Amino acid sequence: MPLIGSKEFVAWLPTFLESKKVLFPKVAYPTYNVGAIIAGAEPIAVDLDADSWPESDLAWINSPSNPTGRVHSESELKSAIKYSRTHKTAVISDECYLEFGNTVEPQSILKFTQGQNSNILAVHSLSKRSSMAGYRGAFVIGDSALIKKILEIRKHAGMMVPLPIQHAMIAALSDDKHVAIQRDRYNKRRQQLIPALESIGFTIDFSDAGLYIWCTRGEDSWKSVEALAKLGILVTPGIFYGPDGGEHVRIAMTATDEAIADAVNRITASKA
Ligand SMILES: Cc1ncc(COP(=O)(O)O)c(C=O)c1O
Repeated sequence: MPLIGSKEFVAWLPTFLESKKVLFPKVAYPTYNVGAIIAGAEPIAVDLDADSWPESDLAWINSPSNPTGRVHSESELKSAIKYSRTHKTAVISDECYLEFGNTVEPQSILKFTQGQNSNILAVHSLSKRSSMAGYRGAFVIGDSALIKKILEIRKHAGMMVPLPIQHAMIAALSDDKHVAIQRDRYNKRRQQLIPALESIGFTIDFSDAGLYIWCTRGEDSWKSVEALAKLGILVTPGIFYGPDGGEHVRIAMTATDEAIADAVNRITASKA
C-alpha cells in the first residue's frame, strides 16, 4: 500500500488501529511515541529484546535504527515475529534505512516470516532510499488483511498518494544504481568522520548502517552538542530520542562531501 510519507503512517497508525498500548525502542525516532499519544494509547519504551516486551497491541521496531545505526540480528527479528504470533500483536518494522548497510547488511523482517505475514508489516520510504523526502512517497508491505483494514479507514481519513507521486516512486524503485551511489557516499563520509571524532574523545556506538553516527564522550548530550557547535558543527542531542540517549549525540551524514571534509579539518585543527 502506498503511503504519503512514512512519518504520516507512524504518526497515525495507532489511531487507525485504535491501539491501547504501543511499544517502541527506548532510544528511537520520536514519532512512535507521539503517534501513541495522538491515539490516546499508552506509549511504552522497551528494550530491543522482544522476549522482554509486555503485552501490547502495536509494537514498532526500527532497523537500521534512527538514531543509533544499530542493525537487528536475524534472531532479534525472529523474536519480534514470535512476540507478534504469541500475543496476536501488530509488529511494524520501520525499514526506511534498510538499503544503507555499511559494516552490517540489514535484513527485512519479511525475510523471516516464511510467508506467514499475519500481523506483520514492513514500512519503506523513498525519502531516504532515493533522497525524495519532499515527494512524500513511502509504502507498507506485509499482512494483506491488516493492509485491507487500514485501506478501509483511509478511504475516509484520506492520505492517498497522488498518482504523479506514485509514478515517480515506480521510477525510483525501478533503479538501484542511484541507491548504491548514495550508500557509498554516506559510508565514505562516515569513514572520514569516525577517526576525527575518536581523536577528540568520542566513542562510536553501533553506527553499522543508515545515515547516522551515534557517539558519546560520557558527558551530557548538550555538552557534546555545544563543543561541536563551537567548531561550527551542528549535531542532535541524543536526549531527543529518549532518556537513554542522554549522553550521546547523533551526527547525520547528509551534509555535502565538502562540508563533511571541512568538519573533519576543523575537528583535527581543534586538537592543535
Ligand atoms: C526511523 C524513521 N522512520 C520514519 C521516518 C519518516 O520519513 P518519511 O516520512 O520522510 O518517509 C524517519 C525520518 O527521519 C525516520 O528516521
